[in-house]
Amino acid sequence: MAGVCVVGSCNFDQKLLLPLTVFLLQTVYVQDIPAPGQTVHGSSYVTGFGGKGANQCVMAAKLGSSATMISALGDDAIASMTRENLRRSNVSLDHMYVKEGVSSGVAQITVSSKSGENCIVIVPGANLCLEPEDVERAAEVRSSGQRDGADGFLRSLVEQAISSCKVLLCQNEISPATTYTAMRIARGSKSPPLVILNAAPAPRVGTNWREGEWRDFKEMLSMCDVLCVNESEAREMSKLQVEGEDESSLMDSIKRASLTLMELGASQILFTLGERGSCLVRPGDGDTREVKVHRVPAGQQRVQVVDTSGAGDAYLGALASHVAAGKSMEQAMEAAGEIATITVQSKGTQNSYPSADSLPPHLRP
Ligand code: RIB
Ligand code: NA
Repeated sequence: MAGVCVVGSCNFDQKLLLPLTVFLLQTVYVQDIPAPGQTVHGSSYVTGFGGKGANQCVMAAKLGSSATMISALGDDAIASMTRENLRRSNVSLDHMYVKEGVSSGVAQITVSSKSGENCIVIVPGANLCLEPEDVERAAEVRSSGQRDGADGFLRSLVEQAISSCKVLLCQNEISPATTYTAMRIARGSKSPPLVILNAAPAPRVGTNWREGEWRDFKEMLSMCDVLCVNESEAREMSKLQVEGEDESSLMDSIKRASLTLMELGASQILFTLGERGSCLVRPGDGDTREVKVHRVPAGQQRVQVVDTSGAGDAYLGALASHVAAGKSMEQAMEAAGEIATITVQSKGTQNSYPSADSLPPHLRP
């Protein structure tokens, strides 16, 4: 059974790279991501496979974990290309669904050649059609009427994949009800996996989340072992800034945001901080508002950042792969940070993810 299981999204990414420095001579602003109403020239256009769920799963598989993807595709050409890509990446496809009459998920990504930063618009398509029934036994039990096991019901294969993995990774690009169901199955298992919820994109009531779903989100937070957020997701969810000129003001802001996220239901919070590394915050002893913090600074060496899209996904896929192989969270965070740093130094998302055999021994799970 799978070491890492992802219940999440697949997208087909179209990536536009904004121009090379030669353009700066004429127009200063074009090296930045365009503002509304602006038209700027890009320097290249590439397509590739993405989706936060698939990226994380592919990263774990490239590091040698047995990895299962539970996801939905549309009835279009992108679906078969996506399956082929996952198959080539050694991801198990036993639980991929095709949804009739909808398109596969797509993403439009703009990357700035100045900073390597990106902005992304996704059209989720079939990703939002992955139903709670697709991941739980109910559907199968109802249709087969068979019973087995201690609780008297036949566990569906997909449910087994979720409950027998070492790490379950979820994100916010599919329906919250489906994510919630997957987490509930994981928590109910005899030896539950570590459940990580990557709150990306941040839940925004009125856009990607409906009013009632925000209530569910708080329940979801108490269902996961680790909530993973970057600075902007932490800010959107806690309404507090996660930033600081120096290390000590950064840490103060992280602690304040953590306390708010813990009040919302999260038990441990993992902050990914880009070039500043990552940080895990756990509750302190007793009922105090103290927290325990494990801080992993990024490496001392400055690297040439070319493309950060999917770097957060590489971090989480790598972290999951190391945890599934028996490493502590602290060890996994260090290795994942180094691996994510490798990915930002070349163009592309999944195709900038390194395989285990190209890495030094300490980064191999
Ligand atoms: O995190 C990067 C990913 O976000 C891209 O691959 C895109 O598909 C969006 O889901
Ligand atoms: Na990259």
